[in-house]
Amino acid sequence: MSARYPRPERRPAVVTGASSGIGAATALALAAVGHPVALGARRTERLEALAASIRESGGEAVVAPLDLTEPDAVEAFAAAAREGLGEIETVVSNAGAVAPGTTHEVSSERFARELDLAVVGAHRLVRAFVPAMVERQRGDLVVVSSDVAVRARPFMAAYAAGKWGLEGMAHALQMELEGTGVRCSIVRPGPTWSEMGSDWDAEEGAFVLDQWVRFGLARHPHFLKPQALADAITYVVQAPRGVHVSLIEVNPEAPVDAPEESR
Ligand SMILES: NC(=O)c1ccc[n+]([C@@H]2O[C@H](COP(=O)([O-])OP(=O)(O)OC[C@H]3O[C@@H](n4cnc5c(N)ncnc54)[C@H](OP(=O)(O)O)[C@@H]3O)[C@@H](O)[C@H]2O)c1
Repeated sequence: MSARYPRPERRPAVVTGASSGIGAATALALAAVGHPVALGARRTERLEALAASIRESGGEAVVAPLDLTEPDAVEAFAAAAREGLGEIETVVSNAGAVAPGTTHEVSSERFARELDLAVVGAHRLVRAFVPAMVERQRGDLVVVSSDVAVRARPFMAAYAAGKWGLEGMAHALQMELEGTGVRCSIVRPGPTWSEMGSDWDAEEGAFVLDQWVRFGLARHPHFLKPQALADAITYVVQAPRGVHVSLIEVNPEAPVDAPEESR
């Protein structure tokens, strides 16, 4: 271990939104490379099942309820994670949600709730974990953003505003944390199969998809599997000290055109 960039062998990691999709895949991937993991989300029965499968494979996992929109719940989650695993070396801020809606028709209360989860919820996590990382002069905060942070999509303006805001906070943090030993990284997924959008009304969902096509935002039908993002997050976290992978955008590759002779 270099004296300049010390790092312990054991690096407990927190994953928010670990009850499905990218968060669940990330928890499994981090556990598989040796990180003890603390799993947070509201559906704790799902977290318990995931933790059991991690333990069966020889990993270490603890579960604690987490609702990022409740300040006290975030603090209680952070305390439970520390109690279960020790000082937290890595935080993956992954939880998120999106609802469809026409901007001028969505109530401002709903708009504010969406921003609260995306931006203030992530800030609550920063408050709960980053000060101790700065004190120890090491740690990783990985912020899961979205391609909408740089290419907004219509009919989900609060989600786009939330991810733009989230990346704004992360960019500011990256500068503030420079020289502290704490790395803040952004992982920006493109379209990914998960439970996101599964609670949408079917007709509304079809309308929104059509509108994305209209604006050239769904040029092909391929989606990523959550594993692709889990791999990217693991890469960011596993980067050796002295290397800061500050931003990764991962998109599904388009279907390859059939060769001319087979058409
Ligand atoms: N899927 C995509 O196409 C896509 C594209 C770009 C970016 N992303 C981003 O990737 C991240 C993961 O999403 P996903 O695609 O894996 O979707 P998902 O399967 O719906 O997972 C979302 C996770 O967030 C958790 N969550 C939601 N509200 C929460 C709250 N108030 N407090 C704590 N946890 C909460 C959910 O858990 P509970 O319901 O159990 O609390 C769930 O575990 C999100 O930040 C999303 O914006 C996804």
